[in-house]
Amino acid sequence: MEHWTNEDRYRPYNEWDNTYLEELKNQVQKSKWRLGFHIQPQTGLLNDPNGFSFFNNQWHLFYQSYPFGPVHGLKSWHHLTSTDLIHWKDLGLALQPSNHFDSHGIFSGSALSTPEGLALMYTGNVRDCNWKRHSYQNIAIVNIDNAINKITEPVITTPTNIFTEDIRDPQLLNINKEYKVILGAQTINKTGAIAVFNGHSLGDLKYQGELKIDKELSGYMIECPNLVFIDKHPVLLFCPQGLEHKQHKYQNVYPNTYLTGESFSWDSLEIKHPHALANLDEGFDIYATQAFNAPDGRALEVSWVGLPEMEYPTDSDGWSGALSLVKELTLKNGELFQYPVKETKELRKNEQVNIKQLADSSNQYELEVQIKDNQTGELQLLRSEDGQHYLSLHFDTTMGRLVLDRSHSPQPINVKFGQKRIANVSSHSDLKLNIFVDNSVVEIFVNNGEKVFTSRYFPLSNESGINVKTSDENDTIRTKMWNLSKTNHN
Ligand code: FRU
Repeated sequence: MEHWTNEDRYRPYNEWDNTYLEELKNQVQKSKWRLGFHIQPQTGLLNDPNGFSFFNNQWHLFYQSYPFGPVHGLKSWHHLTSTDLIHWKDLGLALQPSNHFDSHGIFSGSALSTPEGLALMYTGNVRDCNWKRHSYQNIAIVNIDNAINKITEPVITTPTNIFTEDIRDPQLLNINKEYKVILGAQTINKTGAIAVFNGHSLGDLKYQGELKIDKELSGYMIECPNLVFIDKHPVLLFCPQGLEHKQHKYQNVYPNTYLTGESFSWDSLEIKHPHALANLDEGFDIYATQAFNAPDGRALEVSWVGLPEMEYPTDSDGWSGALSLVKELTLKNGELFQYPVKETKELRKNEQVNIKQLADSSNQYELEVQIKDNQTGELQLLRSEDGQHYLSLHFDTTMGRLVLDRSHSPQPINVKFGQKRIANVSSHSDLKLNIFVDNSVVEIFVNNGEKVFTSRYFPLSNESGINVKTSDENDTIRTKMWNLSKTNHN
């Protein structure tokens, strides 16, 4: 479909015929940008990760889905489970609009293991006959057979004297035997906010107050807030929209940011001794990261490799969006590190060393690059044979600077937001890069996750070369490369 009207976008799922979906599936399968080891939609659009949790001896992960085309339409939750965080079983459509409290979309939310089962808490997006938005915070329970039952009444209705109806993306937590819910919101004064509710049962959630964030750092709306703790230190991830560039530097349409600090007070709802607001990722395509404290003690996260309001070349193949690898969050001297979970190493096969030039890499690999200090050079990935097209990563270990550059891409990708992204690391220091290339998703982890660049890039067929260029031909750069196993079957 070329032009999507509101009527098309909000057509109930059961009114779409199967042949349409089958044809779309065939079209998607022919796409040259399908992924080998990242979660991707079978058809249509994937956006935020939802309900990332551990329950009944399995990891559960859901995502925002609109299966009928690469556009934001009537949203549902799509369900996946895993025992190792790298191989995912696709359980299909999990929650779809079905009642007065979620008629125009099952929006984002989280999951928490409770005595009743896995509680999924999500925003029911509702439009009235004047297309005015209403938001309800709802619950559904997953049982040990992965059957899901919605609780019919919302557990939170919007306190409209404080917030507009742009209030969504609940994170449900259990803190000292009390339920806490944090919600992305907009105040009636049109500033971004995080609303906090609490209660001893899910049926008894009351508004407590706003989580204290500098109003200069909140924009006009906050989406997808997530609070995790690492050794008792809070890490608050969120997506402020409309944040002024003079308050905080970012280049994507909206940043995915985080705050850390010494501790968190649930009484005053504040981060004590907060550090400055920081970008979670230096790449072109990252949003709506969801994190949770897993029962094995790790703080885990997964991100949408994509952004609202962007267009991607896969749109013309009938699909859009992917999830990042699952990453572990750690703090080292107060600095946040993000790195793919250790299980990811199980995907490695065929180690090769000291690859500097490779004409055909197959574009499904991990490349580890170690660079000595006081060097400059460039990595060219997803490179065409004639050297015209490639994704470039410039490094300068004298200045401690990395530049990811999409300007040699075979086609422009959201160029309005710039074609370069820059990250600074320590100057005059060795540098280590672990680069995961999966055809049209590239995740670059700098110095074991001190900085991360997550981006889409869309090579033409046969554009899979690697070229490592350095100023100094001596032994200043070493590489290791592993092909990574395919985990996707769709
Ligand atoms: C973020 C977001 C959420 C919302 C969901 C709808 O990308 O806008 O705030 O719940 O996507 O799909």
